[in-house]
Amino acid sequence: MNGQELINSRRSIYKFTEETVGDDLLNQALIAASNAPCHKHTHPWRFYILGREIRSKLIPTITKLSKIKSKKLQSKNIEADAQRAIRKITDPPLLIAVTSQITPNDDFRTKEDYAATVCALHNLVLSLWDNGIGSQWSTGSITRDNDTYDLLSIDSKQEEIIGFIKAGYPEKIRTVNKKPVDEFVNYVD
Ligand SMILES: Cc1cc2nc3c(=O)[nH]c(=O)nc-3n(C[C@H](O)[C@H](O)[C@H](O)COP(=O)(O)O)c2cc1C
Repeated sequence: MNGQELINSRRSIYKFTEETVGDDLLNQALIAASNAPCHKHTHPWRFYILGREIRSKLIPTITKLSKIKSKKLQSKNIEADAQRAIRKITDPPLLIAVTSQITPNDDFRTKEDYAATVCALHNLVLSLWDNGIGSQWSTGSITRDNDTYDLLSIDSKQEEIIGFIKAGYPEKIRTVNKKPVDEFVNYVD
């Protein structure tokens, strides 16, 4: 794959095989993340690689959040919903919480740092894709709950969890219709 093909072929992956992702490929992706553009060289991103033990500690919170959602949606199968929500966190071969630094009383710095962290996250995603590894960015409620911050020992006054990246070898690659270029470009003379 050349660079253009790499960018244009990437799709979010929701189903992974059980094959583990090698540390060498993860490290390569983290180096790609570190090369993201970053105004003022603040390096505002942090990547928390979540192992099996911490994921099991998240289960009570996932269950709590899933039950709230099921009740809201008047689901008839609250237990099955919870089991599905748990599997979304326990099943992916790789699970990474990505945070961005918060600068109190400086919304512009915090916004620029968020942008840089997104660039770093996407560099990581593209590096993984280059090695045949798919991923999905998730901003589900577990990524935003106070319990998650506590369990991961992340100070919500200093860092915002911008999402979880789930990654592994794709079981299935979806096709997605993208907006044609002429629908979002304006040439201004
Ligand atoms: C900021 C952000 C948050 C996302 N959060 C979720 C999510 O919580 N759940 C989900 O299923 N997909 C999530 N996605 C993935 C998008 O749904 C996906 O990118 C979109 O369907 C386009 O597909 P593609 O990535 O294959 O081009 C998120 C993507 C972004 C950029």
